[in-house]
Amino acid sequence: MLQIKLISFLILFLIFNIVSSTIYNIRDFGAKGDGNTDDTQSVLEAISKCMINGGVLYIPSGTFVIRSSLIFKTNLPFTINGDGMNSILLWEFNDHLIIISSESNNEISQITIRDFVITSSIVEKSLDKFGIYAENLVKSQIEHLIINSNDSKISPISGGIAMIGVADTNTIRDVIMWEIKGTGIKIGYGSEIRILGGRIIGANLRFDQSIGIHCTGNNGGVHIENTDIIALAIGMLIENQNGTSGSNREIFISQATLDSNGQGLVIRDNSYVSIIGIWAASSTIHQVFIEENTTAVLSISGGTIFNGGVYECPNNSNWCNGMTIKSGTFILSGVEIRNNKGRGIWIPNKSVTQFQIISCRIFANGQGLYINGSSFIISNNVCNSNQLPNFISDTKDSIVQNNLAC
Ligand SMILES: *[C@@H]1O[C@H](CO)[C@@H](O)[C@H](O)[C@H]1NC(C)=O
Ligand SMILES: *[C@@H]1O[C@H](CO)[C@@H](O)[C@H](O)[C@H]1NC(C)=O
Ligand SMILES: *[C@@H]1O[C@H](CO)[C@@H](O)[C@H](O)[C@H]1NC(C)=O
Ligand SMILES: *[C@@H]1O[C@H](CO)[C@@H](O)[C@H](O)[C@H]1NC(C)=O
Ligand SMILES: *[C@@H]1O[C@H](CO)[C@@H](O)[C@H](O)[C@H]1NC(C)=O
Ligand SMILES: *[C@@H]1O[C@H](CO)[C@@H](O)[C@H](O)[C@H]1NC(C)=O
Repeated sequence: MLQIKLISFLILFLIFNIVSSTIYNIRDFGAKGDGNTDDTQSVLEAISKCMINGGVLYIPSGTFVIRSSLIFKTNLPFTINGDGMNSILLWEFNDHLIIISSESNNEISQITIRDFVITSSIVEKSLDKFGIYAENLVKSQIEHLIINSNDSKISPISGGIAMIGVADTNTIRDVIMWEIKGTGIKIGYGSEIRILGGRIIGANLRFDQSIGIHCTGNNGGVHIENTDIIALAIGMLIENQNGTSGSNREIFISQATLDSNGQGLVIRDNSYVSIIGIWAASSTIHQVFIEENTTAVLSISGGTIFNGGVYECPNNSNWCNGMTIKSGTFILSGVEIRNNKGRGIWIPNKSVTQFQIISCRIFANGQGLYINGSSFIISNNVCNSNQLPNFISDTKDSIVQNNLAC
């Protein structure tokens, strides 16, 4: 009996020791967290210990002033764990705040970053600097963070989170970003990336260079669910950024909000984009856009695309549209397209083919439909109360039937 007790005591002692020895509390390395003292060196020391065998870098509550990049360079799994919303890293210099990269360009795997706040101080940052900048990150999670600014008027944030190089099987969950002037989330060359919940809010400048979510090329399996993307120049941009990394492949968006941007969703490559329950509203140029020269395939089921140009509509002959489709093809089913000051759906030329608009209500737009494509089906729609009459080009290879007022 005594022996068993002794053994279980020993086991508990060992487990406790293993667990506690892997937690590196930045205060134990001299960080003050008083909002004034420069805590950079203390935090860097804690990180260098944490990088030896991996473990947890713990940020207790406090405001820790950081004045140079916190570089995590390792091939070992590690965690950065805060104590919730009272654990604040004050980002007070012009470079990435947290940089994660592997030794010798391998993948870096099984990283968890959670439960703290990154606050951008009034020190100005270039737009390409991020709160978290990760290279070759795989099988990792970033969750429950707030990335905000000390003073929304004078210290907007440049970028939120970048995953560049390979990005595979990573999740960003419930991360809230406020006052983004650069890019909220940048994803390059990845697959199985999930962005779940959270908000990305810009600085409400609809014609600056800000982007909510940017897929820069060669991404497959990007899933965006229940995320709000608001008040940026482009809400979500899907492109093959410099023509070298290849088109993105499949992108899934469900029940997300794209609201009050310059442009909502912009597709410039040959992606397959599937949207369920779209909410795309109040953007100035268009809510949904496919650029020319693509073979993009867009599928939208349910939801609403509305209020295009509600803030301003300087040119309703080519702006303030619900959808502007210049190439590729699409299926639109059961979507409400209403109150756009420009066109509900604008297809300017014949290169858009084999699309279908089915069971939609296209209502109270400047013009409901301007369709100049080929080989399409438009059926079972209701098109009441649009200001200008619809235009549907020559329909000899197409089916236009069972519509009301279209
Ligand atoms: C926070 O913003 C205030 C102005 O609202 C400014 O006086 C102060 O210096 C800022 N602090 C930091 C750390 O940027
Ligand atoms: C293309 O973009 C990638 C990733 O952003 C970058 O590493 C590469 O240098 C760029 N290539 C050119 C030709 O601009
Ligand atoms: C589309 O292709 C044409 C012809 O190659 C080119 O002139 C035009 O600039 C391209 N448009 C875009 C947006 O890349
Ligand atoms: C408005 O759009 C039309 C058609 O594209 C274009 O000819 C005109 O230049 C635009 N006007 C302004 C002020 O952008
Ligand atoms: C299709 O129309 C758009 C808008 O007018 C124009 O920019 C583009 O060059 C056209 N493309 C073709 C292939 O006609
Ligand atoms: C339809 O698009 C073709 C180019 O694809 C263009 O030549 C024609 O002018 C367009 N017609 C209308 C009415 O917009």
